Amino acid sequence: MKITSAEFVISNTKLDLCPKPDKAEYAFIGRSNVGKSSLINYIVNNKNLAKTSGRPGKTQLINHFIINEEWYLVDLPGYGYAQTSKKNRAKWEQFISDYILQRENLLNLFVLIDSRLPAQKIDLDFMEWLGEKGVPFSIVFTKIDKLSSTQKHKNLMAYKKEMLKYWEEMPINFSTSSSGKTGKEAILNYIESINIA
Ligand code: GTP
Ligand code: MG
Repeated sequence: MKITSAEFVISNTKLDLCPKPDKAEYAFIGRSNVGKSSLINYIVNNKNLAKTSGRPGKTQLINHFIINEEWYLVDLPGYGYAQTSKKNRAKWEQFISDYILQRENLLNLFVLIDSRLPAQKIDLDFMEWLGEKGVPFSIVFTKIDKLSSTQKHKNLMAYKKEMLKYWEEMPINFSTSSSGKTGKEAILNYIESINIA
């Protein structure tokens, strides 16, 4: 799929203030700093569309972008950001889980995983929760430019092995590098296949 336009629509923490749920929607989630906002910018080929930062906790709101005037891409705040207060975290959990569980046009959640790290409990728990709630998701391994191809292969095999302890099969997964500009075509093809289904 070719991206012909990508525009910011609205940011908020409330489900009922999100755009009317009349278009297909896809959202990016994962630990703070994993590269969600960077991946959105790489996908739409505009480095200034979603705000990125070297420091975790940059994205704090639900950000809607409209792509090709046809479907929504959503940048979500990260989880696992230790610096924030308990109260803030509880608030985050509430509005993010409302969004994930109640957003009727959300067709797939992309769970971003840092390809450099061994499987993290917080991500495994999060995906287990998605499974329990029946939320469709797939995995995006990020920052693969930081790994040699051997190491990348090793890490992905190890991740798969870990996932198979909980899941019957490895969820659909993608490998990307926003700085190296690799991997977006497969994600866009996947989105297109869902859009036209
Ligand atoms: P929060 O909004 O805080 O949850 O973070 P985020 O997941 O949106 O991460 P963001 O896109 O802001 O990127 C975090 C840091 O990782 C930035 O310094 C990016 O430049 C860097 N980064 C993101 N993607 C890549 C990548 O593919 N390769 C490399 N090497 N660095 C990346
Ligand atoms: Mg972000």
